[in-house]
Amino acid sequence: MSGTYEIRRFDAVSKGDPGFAEAENWVRAVAFGFHESTRTPEHVAKSLDTYKADRRVLTGAYQAGEVAPGSLPADVPVATFGTLRKTLNIGFGRTLDTQLVTAVTVRTSHRRRGLLRRMMSEDLDMARRDGIPMAALTASEGSIYGRFGYGVASFERTVKVDTTARFVLNHQSTGIVEVADSKVLLDVAPVVFERVHRVTPGSIGRQEWYRQLASGSLGRDGKEDPAVKVALHYGAGNTVDGYVSYRFLGWDTEPHTVQVVDLVAATSDAYLELWQFLAAIDLVERVTWEEAPLDDPLTWALSDPRCIDSSDSRDMLWLRILDVVKALEARHYQVDGRLVLAVLDPLGLSAGTFALTVSGGEAAVERVDTGEEPDLTLDVSALSSIYLGAVCPVTLEAAGRIREHRQGAALQARGLFAVERATHCLTHF
Ligand SMILES: CC(C)(COP(=O)(O)OP(=O)(O)OC[C@H]1O[C@@H](n2cnc3c(N)ncnc32)[C@H](O)[C@@H]1OP(=O)(O)O)[C@@H](O)C(=O)NCCC(=O)NCCS
Repeated sequence: MSGTYEIRRFDAVSKGDPGFAEAENWVRAVAFGFHESTRTPEHVAKSLDTYKADRRVLTGAYQAGEVAPGSLPADVPVATFGTLRKTLNIGFGRTLDTQLVTAVTVRTSHRRRGLLRRMMSEDLDMARRDGIPMAALTASEGSIYGRFGYGVASFERTVKVDTTARFVLNHQSTGIVEVADSKVLLDVAPVVFERVHRVTPGSIGRQEWYRQLASGSLGRDGKEDPAVKVALHYGAGNTVDGYVSYRFLGWDTEPHTVQVVDLVAATSDAYLELWQFLAAIDLVERVTWEEAPLDDPLTWALSDPRCIDSSDSRDMLWLRILDVVKALEARHYQVDGRLVLAVLDPLGLSAGTFALTVSGGEAAVERVDTGEEPDLTLDVSALSSIYLGAVCPVTLEAAGRIREHRQGAALQARGLFAVERATHCLTHF
């Protein structure tokens, strides 16, 4: 059936560039797939400007045969798949080039004909041949991507924080917070984020759009958002080491609520002091944030940790190791040791038995496909899940996702893959 489709790949371009009409159709198809009401031409053009800045590659599947009369024409893709390349922080300040997969849609009338499988398999194969050791995505549904070797590697949660008199933070301020014009974030946000990216395991380099979102320049609806307010945190040397961008939800929302648009802090002090600022906003009783970490210092700094109401925890980053040797050798390990891993791969990209030997924190990985008994057998999705230290191998063993052949090997893996602080990804793509 896949023979009736032609897969085409092209770069994102701006209005006026050759190929704009093709890119425009692609963006419209994505919007349709995610049930957006029609995107205006201006919104499509703005989206493509940011995609071009990110050097996104747009993949589309097109009907190669006759198109049903009166239906959408052949130059509107029936399936879409977008990619861009960024770095992933893999702990202890190290980064890994990563293929980010996004904008996956298949038109309802063409689903379950293998289009996603075809686009995903071809793309992962090309990325691996380009020397990219890791792929990542965020998933709309939990059941789609495991079959392609992806595993959940980080989590996030929505928090509703009670900022009435109950909010008491046990923290002595070291810096100051000051309100700024929201547009300063066009320049400041990428600089602050870069610092956060360097110190946060699980962080992914951000797309161009984020500074526009944080500054209120380009909201999710494609329009400027004048409601966005911004405060900056000044730390050591009076440099900006954190910011929060937020909006008041209006007098009709009870209790009166401020919603965080983006909260990025490069130090623990900046993080707590930005929360202190948010809690001090007059006439507001609640602050909400949809991208909060699960393992959150705020919880432990509050006199009453129950100020935080968080009923909604969910998976965030899904990782897919494309090259086991490269990915494992790139990491720093806190403890030394040797672990033999038999890795299964449904797409055959990274299967094999690998001996991971860590000495002085550095790893050497060799294929030992013949002879040596593995300590653990696991699917590449499980290996990808434990890679950033946020998913416990002992739990995966208990779930039957990892088979332990030497007693204690899963616990040893837990120690090996630990990272220096909580894994958290502030980049949705
Ligand atoms: C999810 C979606 C992209 C799947 O596309 P598709 O072309 O129908 O998928 P394929 O035909 O290539 O199916 C590949 C495999 O995934 C399975 N699969 C596809 N979608 C699935 C879903 N939503 N839940 C569970 N399994 C799914 C298929 O059964 C098939 O399994 P198999 O190969 O083991 O037999 C499509 O349904 C879609 O556009 N959904 C709405 C947008 C969306 O959710 N995008 C994902 C964004 S992260």
